[in-house]
Amino acid sequence: MQDKILVIGSAGQIGTELVMRLRDMYGASNVVATDIRDAAPEVMESGPFELLDIMNQEALNDLVAREKITQIYLLAALLSATAEKNIELGWGLNMRSLSHVLDAARFGPVKKVYWPSSIAVFGPTTPRENTPQRTIMEPNTVYGISKLAGERWCEYYHDKFGVDVRSIRYPGLIGWKAAPGGGTTDYAVHIFHEAIKEGKYTSFLDEGTRLPMMYMPDAIDATVQLMEAPADQVKIRSSYNVAGFSFAPEDIGAEVRNLVPGFELNYEPDYRQAIADSWPSSIDDSDARSDWGWNHKFDLKDMSQDMFKNLKTKYQK
Ligand code: NAD
Ligand code: SER
Repeated sequence: MQDKILVIGSAGQIGTELVMRLRDMYGASNVVATDIRDAAPEVMESGPFELLDIMNQEALNDLVAREKITQIYLLAALLSATAEKNIELGWGLNMRSLSHVLDAARFGPVKKVYWPSSIAVFGPTTPRENTPQRTIMEPNTVYGISKLAGERWCEYYHDKFGVDVRSIRYPGLIGWKAAPGGGTTDYAVHIFHEAIKEGKYTSFLDEGTRLPMMYMPDAIDATVQLMEAPADQVKIRSSYNVAGFSFAPEDIGAEVRNLVPGFELNYEPDYRQAIADSWPSSIDDSDARSDWGWNHKFDLKDMSQDMFKNLKTKYQK
């Protein structure tokens, strides 16, 4: 039977790109994109799009039944910085959305669920370099706490109810197609926009703040690769570490300066610095590599060149 896929949170940074990839893979009419707001024209015009508030469990169940949905990608969430500003909504949205989707698979016709976790599941007591898959996890942000709780629920639903749920702990994601949604790593996207528009950027993270990052095409590849893997290769049902590359603001600043001569980088750390300081600098993703063949393609230089080229073209249009 042809899979019918529901993407929740399709207007966001990841959804904008993931929907297009899934439509290429499964056929446009088989990927129903949803969000509480309009998505990019590309997403809304290339296949079915509906407004859906994932807090409304009945609306989700109705849509799943009406469209005969067999797979759900849940991308709706408040990210780290936004959640820290509104902890009730951060916790409420991040947890209830997941429980509604897991129950759609436990009690309904949904066969497979994708839900992203984050490097935010780690905390200040976690080993910072080459952070292992299994280690101390004491996150101190509402976002990190919600992601860690979510991981435990995913594993529980898999083990107790047989739900085929799959997850990746994304690092900070960098892409040019959609704006980032309020994370601590967003500076690494803003820097390109401001370099092209103004020739300078003031980073809200300080010099020396080295974090794990990934270019969006790699993140989309990892996501579909994990979802396509045979179930017996998916040995971790909480969430997989995946890594691309790590850098600090001055490292990406140097790459940007190669592309925009004279580019000026300044630092004005704000409340997001404390969040970044609680996260790892680099990630050990050997389980993802050995279990389902994960391999990243882009390094810092490749990513910077590709970002710059695409954004420059976008701004010239
Ligand atoms: P985003 O903020 O760009 O997009 C989230 C989308 O969810 C938005 O379009 C928003 O309108 C929608 N949404 C919010 N409330 C909703 C509701 N009640 N019902 C339906 N939709 C709602 O986020 P993103 O960067 O695309 O992230 C997607 C997922 O990936 C999240 O779970 C996030 O935690 C995770 N993640 C992202 C990154 C990253 O760097 N982007 C890193 C780690 C994990
Ligand atoms: N990029 C995300 C954030 O900063 C990590 O989960 O919130």
